[in-house]
Amino acid sequence: MKKGYQMGENSLNPDEMLNALAAANAPDLGVDPESCIMPRGSDPCTVVILGATGDLTARKLIPALYDLYLNNALPKPFLIVGCGRTTFDDTAFREKMRCALQKAGKLDPAKWPEFAAALHYRVIDYENLESYKSLAKSLKDLDSRFNTRGNRMFYTALPPALYSSAATLVGRAGLSVEKTNANGWSRIVIEKPFGSDLDTARKLDKTIREHFHEHQIFRIDHYLAKETVQNVLMLRFANSLFEPIWNRRYVDYVNITATETLGVEHRAGYYEQAGVLRDMFQNHMMQLLALTAMEPPSRFEADLVRDEKIKVFRALRPFPVQNLSDYLVLGQYRAGHINHEPVRGYREEPGVSPDSLVPTYAMMKVYPDNWRWQGVPFYMTSGKRLKEKITEIAIQFKTVPHSMFRHTLGEKIIANRLSLGIYPEEKIRLTFQTKNPGAKVCLRTVTMDFHYRQNYSGPAFDAYETVLVDCMLGDQMLFWRQDGVERSWAFLTPILDACENCDDRGKLLHFYASGSSGPEEIRRLFQAQTPN
Ligand code: BG6
Repeated sequence: MKKGYQMGENSLNPDEMLNALAAANAPDLGVDPESCIMPRGSDPCTVVILGATGDLTARKLIPALYDLYLNNALPKPFLIVGCGRTTFDDTAFREKMRCALQKAGKLDPAKWPEFAAALHYRVIDYENLESYKSLAKSLKDLDSRFNTRGNRMFYTALPPALYSSAATLVGRAGLSVEKTNANGWSRIVIEKPFGSDLDTARKLDKTIREHFHEHQIFRIDHYLAKETVQNVLMLRFANSLFEPIWNRRYVDYVNITATETLGVEHRAGYYEQAGVLRDMFQNHMMQLLALTAMEPPSRFEADLVRDEKIKVFRALRPFPVQNLSDYLVLGQYRAGHINHEPVRGYREEPGVSPDSLVPTYAMMKVYPDNWRWQGVPFYMTSGKRLKEKITEIAIQFKTVPHSMFRHTLGEKIIANRLSLGIYPEEKIRLTFQTKNPGAKVCLRTVTMDFHYRQNYSGPAFDAYETVLVDCMLGDQMLFWRQDGVERSWAFLTPILDACENCDDRGKLLHFYASGSSGPEEIRRLFQAQTPN
């Protein structure tokens, strides 16, 4: 049924009128938007945050859990047990979290007391088994007091160097076994980096697997939880329109971009070891590539979707490391201006070596060697301190095979482009040609835009909220599976080796001014004739 709008005495203001018209013209698809917000309720559980006094907890995890609570999306009963080295009691921890929510502009004083009552704190020594045993005892006490049924999610908001010992000691304290000894389910959440190359990723996994099975391990990639990233599969496989042209016959190339205006911020210690290839490519960029290039799975189920993604990684043509510069441009930001404010160069950032060769920018050309994509280059670009923050997947179609207008227009017809905007605008834009109004025959390029929030006014969940809910539900669709992690590293490790161990590492690095569009050399990469 279409919604009506009123004229006359109680008439709407122009904005309301426009909204009403938009709603009236929107097709009624018979879906109650409210029913799409939350999946079925999850089991009562306890979220145990290891690293509860750190930045991630205050900036992301507690605000996300609080939002979920405000939206009635947390199970009942539900507990949060923060663990850290700092000597806090429950009251001090609650106060710290209250301040964090206030700082984030989220605190609702009326709703806070009930949420605060779910927060508890236990001091922990991360590398001491006795400390985990006493945590196990506390968790059991809390289970029996609050009836959380022994279901627990261990969120490792810790420095990566502590992942292995935390997983091992959680396991040795008897907290990873499921459905025995008063335990319900037990899940461990880890954030990237999953190792720093293929070898270390395997070692980390081996340690975690001594106590946890794959179905208990949730490896987060927050890009996967972005609504518009999830939408790539809906767009491709819930429409018959796009799939027939989503291949080498019609697509000229694909651009996957994730640029930022931010610099390295306070993370120099980590970034000096990681650089852009480990920080953005091994995880987020590879996931965007997989979603764009994969085949449709037979069902929308976590393992079937992840199987298809892995086939994309497998199909990637081994990177021609002998000929790096035709396929890869690396850069590092120098001083410049962002939003008219002067900013320093990477080498001047606190904690960065003054002669650092770590890349903060990379553009890479890769080819999936398979029937669908043979010969189609995928350009992946990511960098810090660039002109704009843009995250986007763009499908550039081929030009028309023959232009019947060329005698009249004498120009090349601009090819179609489909852009899947992830940030700042969550939108899908199709660019195409139409006749320009007037007697003379002229073409003009126009767009059709779909804004993701169009005709939607319900709550929007951010990436952390989504991953927390999915972990509580035990749904691994939006998480990396270990074979995917290894395939991704198997592709990138030879590139990292070639870049980091070559005789003249400095020659590979091109500097760019902060606030610019990146190094000049990217033009060459676009123009380089590479065998396809
Ligand atoms: C993180 C990287 O994973 O993603 C950061 O470690 C980067 O360096 C961030 O800034 C970008 O995420 P988003 O969601 O802002 O695009």
